[in-house]
Amino acid sequence: MTEAIVVRNEKRLEGKVVIITGGASGIGEATARLFVHHGPCMIVIADIQDQKGQDVAKSIGPHICSYVHCDVTDELQVKSMVDWTVKNYGRLDVMFSNAGIGIPNQTILELDLSAYDRVMGVNARGMATCVKHAGKAMVDGGVKGSIVCTASLAGSAGRETCLDYAMSKHAVLGLMRSASVQLGKYGIRVNCVSPSGLATPMTCKIHGSDTEGVEKMFSSFSSLKGGVVLKVKHVADAVLFLASDDSAFVTGHNLAVDGGFRPH
Ligand SMILES: NC(=O)c1ccc[n+]([C@@H]2O[C@H](COP(=O)([O-])OP(=O)(O)OC[C@H]3O[C@@H](n4cnc5c(N)ncnc54)[C@H](O)[C@@H]3O)[C@@H](O)[C@H]2O)c1
Repeated sequence: MTEAIVVRNEKRLEGKVVIITGGASGIGEATARLFVHHGPCMIVIADIQDQKGQDVAKSIGPHICSYVHCDVTDELQVKSMVDWTVKNYGRLDVMFSNAGIGIPNQTILELDLSAYDRVMGVNARGMATCVKHAGKAMVDGGVKGSIVCTASLAGSAGRETCLDYAMSKHAVLGLMRSASVQLGKYGIRVNCVSPSGLATPMTCKIHGSDTEGVEKMFSSFSSLKGGVVLKVKHVADAVLFLASDDSAFVTGHNLAVDGGFRPH
């Protein structure tokens, strides 16, 4: 028997309530801006950059986007932010757990362990905290939601620097794989998006360069040529796929957005 093919419209997140951590900047901000075109949906941006987060929420539209201060290293703040979302908007459908940091010059022989603790605290512990509380809200609300975590190409390969960053992103993949197994029985999906390098405030700071310099450096690593350079919009498109029902049978997956990464 031939199944009817349903052609989806642009409203891929219609009626959904979404949290985006690290939504004040870079990939998170671009994702919030893309998601509103696939609503109407409610978006909560959770970040520690209050002015930037408020500005993004205001420019998207205060009736569909809110900013909540939330440091993902503090479990109480994560719990309060998720509770606030459910109290105000009735449910949680999508958690894009994306907040992350990177610190330059971290090699095994020169490892600064306080910096290591900060990186692991945000990227691994903070990510686990966000998945924990999003999962609880979805289970308690009977919502078959979608959780998307930002990992990285650095989660699947060794690097010449940023040792703790690579460790933290390997941890994100382990978190996603185990959480997808444990939450699958509730119909909750958990996936990762793994970009290769792209120009955002984080990478410009790490590499001490501007957008053009960072893009030039990273573009030499991808197989895709012809002027295609990884931008935040490409990552946001992949997150939209994983967040929406377009990926309804996809879970435990690490979606690389890397232009066919090819190390030199
Ligand atoms: N830019 C890249 O090349 C790249 C590649 C792969 C993965 N990533 C990952 O993408 C994610 C987003 O990074 P980006 O490149 O957009 O950088 P970004 O600096 O533009 O955005 C990161 C956001 O996370 C927020 N944040 C940092 N610590 C936080 C905390 N404790 N609590 C809440 N929010 C916090 C920051 O304020 C910022 O708004 C990160 O997880 C990063 O590791 C980036």
